[in-house]
Amino acid sequence: MPSARSDLPAWQKLTEHQRAQSRLHLRELFARDPGRFRTFSLALDGMLLDYSKQRVTVETMRLLMELARECELEAWRAQMLTGERVNASEDRAALHVALRADAPVPVEGQDVTREVTAVLADMRRFARGVRSGRARGASGRVFTDVLNLGIGGSDLGPRLACDALKHCSNAGPRAHFVSNVDGAAIAGALDRLTPATTLVVVSSKTFGTQETLANARTARAWLEKKLKDKAARHLCAVTADPARALAFGVPADRIFRTWDWVGGRYSLCSAVGLPVALAIGMERFEELRAGARAIDEHFARAPLEQNLPVVMGLLEVWNVNFLGCGARAVLPYDERLRWLPAYLQQLEMESCGKSVTRDGSRAGHATAPVTWGSAGTDGQHAYFQLLHQGTSTVPADFIACCRPHHGLRSHHQALLANFFAQTEALARGMTGEEAAAGMREQGLPEAGIRGLLPHRIFDGNRPTTSILLDELTPRALGALIALYEHKVFVQSVIWNVNAFDQWGVELGKSLAGRIVSELEGGAPVSSHDSSTNGLINHYKSRKKK
Ligand code: F6P
Repeated sequence: MPSARSDLPAWQKLTEHQRAQSRLHLRELFARDPGRFRTFSLALDGMLLDYSKQRVTVETMRLLMELARECELEAWRAQMLTGERVNASEDRAALHVALRADAPVPVEGQDVTREVTAVLADMRRFARGVRSGRARGASGRVFTDVLNLGIGGSDLGPRLACDALKHCSNAGPRAHFVSNVDGAAIAGALDRLTPATTLVVVSSKTFGTQETLANARTARAWLEKKLKDKAARHLCAVTADPARALAFGVPADRIFRTWDWVGGRYSLCSAVGLPVALAIGMERFEELRAGARAIDEHFARAPLEQNLPVVMGLLEVWNVNFLGCGARAVLPYDERLRWLPAYLQQLEMESCGKSVTRDGSRAGHATAPVTWGSAGTDGQHAYFQLLHQGTSTVPADFIACCRPHHGLRSHHQALLANFFAQTEALARGMTGEEAAAGMREQGLPEAGIRGLLPHRIFDGNRPTTSILLDELTPRALGALIALYEHKVFVQSVIWNVNAFDQWGVELGKSLAGRIVSELEGGAPVSSHDSSTNGLINHYKSRKKK
């Protein structure tokens, strides 16, 4: 195989193909083929994926599949699913699928699902105890609140799930999340909570992350102030390093294990999901795992052409590498999914934000685009201007549910009307003739129309994918998460990067470790560049003594 992706025959064909069809407009593609929606949409288990508003033809998809095969996607998929050490730079497997498997996953002779099952049983027992009021705090009061302290993958998954699935639970403690080391975050949370009724979950795979440990120490001191030597009964931990959690003071029977073969951003189905089991219920958490499992099975077995994560991953490759799009928006038209963009930012950008390929050479092609977004319809009144008429094309994923959990039907109709309208407007745009006709209808004089016309034209041809879920159930959320996990893996294979390491976060961490001690002393610092020295010294001269 050629070392550079751009030397692959399919890559070159795609480059040629893009040139040849660069003038094609989505408007024209829809006009030409009334069956376009049917050709470019897939359905699975209460989920519809419509990618007919992507700038692709049957030939584009055929060539993308050819590229996937040239990059040996099927072999890589098999390696990941069978626990081979696909995370080569850390010499580890990436076995998040084993977290939700219902059959043994043997890795180097050991069935890793046994350990998973044992931890799940502990979680079940614990969550049931807390939710039923059997497991109580030190002063005999039931736990009314759970405070999760974690960051990145030890925060975003459970935060997303607890927020998205709140409507599924009418019992159990309320979940709170603090991730930032900013004291304003933990102070604000503790102000609203009562030590006697709060259970603190310290979630850190390494149990060595600065932000999480700082928050955990503050929370522990807050518990100790009220509960004295019984404070530990309000602590539990989720970690791959139980010895460190024990040394921190977490009782051994409150430490829930995770493993080095689960990456933080892929870990929601592990004990990292403990806040979900506590706040929403273990049964719901099991349903979420089952939804993820259904997508794992689909990803493992479905032919590439009908494989949802494969199609989504290849569409992103098309947009990034052949249409030159450097960003993608994630736009859930569902308030309950408001944490999804942040969750996907970590999943996608920490996984594929790399410029070096698996063999250590510079990638000669673009990799992860900037992932960003927020819940609709707010964005329509803020940044959608750029999506419609800006100079860069930003493909977007629109996500909505057909059936809401509330009874406000007219709200839901309005929400969905906006969803459909936006994707249509982004695809179709508005021509000069249409814009002029509209203004004439409003009675504008011809001179005014001429002046306004350039501002009223929408080029359109802006690609979007629509995902419609029947309902936002735990199962649907699990499926959605697994869909994106595997999509990211597909992209990593095409881009030839390791989706499971994150060396890029280390430099800033180690510099911060050094600077924190420099902030203590009174002497000015001079060991950095003049900007960093200047900023630190300015801060030292202004901070409260
Ligand atoms: O800094 C990045 C990171 O390592 C993420 O990959 C991870 O999810 C997060 O920090 C938290 O790590 P831990 O769970 O070990 O505290």
